[in-house]
Amino acid sequence: MSEAIYLCASSALLDSGSAVAFEVRYSAQPLRAFAVRYQGKVYAYLNRCSHVPMEMDYQPNQFFDLTGHWLMCATHGAMYSPQTGQCRMGPCRSSLVKIEITEVNHQVHWHTSALIESTTHHDRPT
Ligand code: FES
Repeated sequence: MSEAIYLCASSALLDSGSAVAFEVRYSAQPLRAFAVRYQGKVYAYLNRCSHVPMEMDYQPNQFFDLTGHWLMCATHGAMYSPQTGQCRMGPCRSSLVKIEITEVNHQVHWHTSALIESTTHHDRPT
């Protein structure tokens, strides 16, 4: 069952600006993810290039190329569509893994799915 998890205030995400990072579990592995705003809408993906499974940001939370229209992997320059995560240019092999996002009342939430869970989901009670 999907769960909505608070990520940030809407004002933290500017068009083609810095990302907001968050942690998820993907197929039971801890991984980083990121959300960006592009042309007014928020999108989120696992921070994992489809070329080699490495994190993509060239500086912390910087994913957009100089044009502000593509998400770029710093390692070998793969370019992805911010709206779909699809590979557009470079050595990428497939799409980024997308994470569902909702933005309501100036708040951004990400949504868990069958493969993508909250990092606190399996934590044992203390
Ligand atoms: S690891 Fe991302 S382009 Fe090669």
